[in-house]
Amino acid sequence: MGGTTWFARSRCSGAPQHSPAARERAAQTARIPGSTNTRLDSRWGRRWEPRVASPFTHQPVLLDEALEWLALRPGAVVVDGTVGAGGHAAGILERTAPGGRLIAFDVDPEALAAARERLSGFGARVRFEHASFRALGAALARQGIDAVDAVLLDLGVSSPQLDHAHRGFRFGADTAGQTPLDMRMDPTAGRSAAALLAEADAEELASWFRDYADLPGARRLARAIVAARERAPLATAADLLRVIGESGVGRGRRHHPATQVFQALRIAVNDEIGALAEGLGAAIDVLRPGGRVVVIAYHSGEDRVVKQRFRDEARGCSCPPRQPVCTCGRRPKLRVLTRRPIVASPAELARNPRARSAKLRAAERLVEQAA
Ligand SMILES: C[S@@+](CC[C@H](N)C(=O)[O-])C[C@H]1O[C@@H](n2cnc3c(N)ncnc32)[C@H](O)[C@@H]1O
Repeated sequence: MGGTTWFARSRCSGAPQHSPAARERAAQTARIPGSTNTRLDSRWGRRWEPRVASPFTHQPVLLDEALEWLALRPGAVVVDGTVGAGGHAAGILERTAPGGRLIAFDVDPEALAAARERLSGFGARVRFEHASFRALGAALARQGIDAVDAVLLDLGVSSPQLDHAHRGFRFGADTAGQTPLDMRMDPTAGRSAAALLAEADAEELASWFRDYADLPGARRLARAIVAARERAPLATAADLLRVIGESGVGRGRRHHPATQVFQALRIAVNDEIGALAEGLGAAIDVLRPGGRVVVIAYHSGEDRVVKQRFRDEARGCSCPPRQPVCTCGRRPKLRVLTRRPIVASPAELARNPRARSAKLRAAERLVEQAA
């Protein structure tokens, strides 16, 4: 997680730099489980379906802190934009009892199935939305909700997404040959990592490795990927590991460069920075005055987006600082509550090492001032 310049980039749009034959091979292999390509569905042995048989458990990070900063009260209407396995959601429902309502979003049907099971005891107080939090405004409007008391976004991936090899987020050498390069949080939509690797041009690949993972040698690896896919499509984690190894990127460094490469691809596949920028705006807009938004980020790039957005919304006016009179007319919407991000306590870190990169920021919606 490096200190790079972060910004949302559009998905790959450049022309693929390979021959028509290689392109065809790559396109075939790029469509992996969950796609409409029956040839490859049979190659991988199944169509994608939610797997609830394997346990989907996730230890919620900064749980007490998140619940405190959300300032929950009985009867509150709350959005959990990233319900995952439902750990934070259960805490929210307990603290808003007896009449509180929760609208729980997740893009991952496996997560939603697990959350539904875990939160079944709360009955009709919780509603589930298989949707991105970037669209939370429209989803709430469909339910007749125009304002809420609190929004929680606990970003990134959950432990089961990382640990279940069939999701394609991991690169353990033991299973790499059977791990499809998927990485979609929502396996029913969008393009897999294999598809992006087949279609993105070298410049775009390099920009992901550089901007989303601070990878030294980003261009070299991008060129190596373009050369490798001319010979054969990259379909499994093992294929990508081989190219990383051959490129020499990260040689002699303490950490395997695949960690950064997989992270960058995951962020690109799921357009995580774009979703965050849009979702934060939607969350702020739907808060009633005095309502709270709490975001837990696990990555310096995400945290920077949150910090900057909170700061901008707290300032309001976006006129150049040298301009004597405001002409933009924007008024502050937020009060930032956490001057510095909240991080996990040593006790939590000892229990859950995945909390080590977590940063929580909170802000409160202001009463709208007249212009
Ligand atoms: C860190 S986990 C959340 C864990 C959860 N707070 C719990 O206590 O179990 C992040 C979850 O957010 C989901 N997610 C990521 N981006 C999303 C988005 N744009 N919209 C909705 N869900 C998203 C992932 O699928 C994952 O289940």
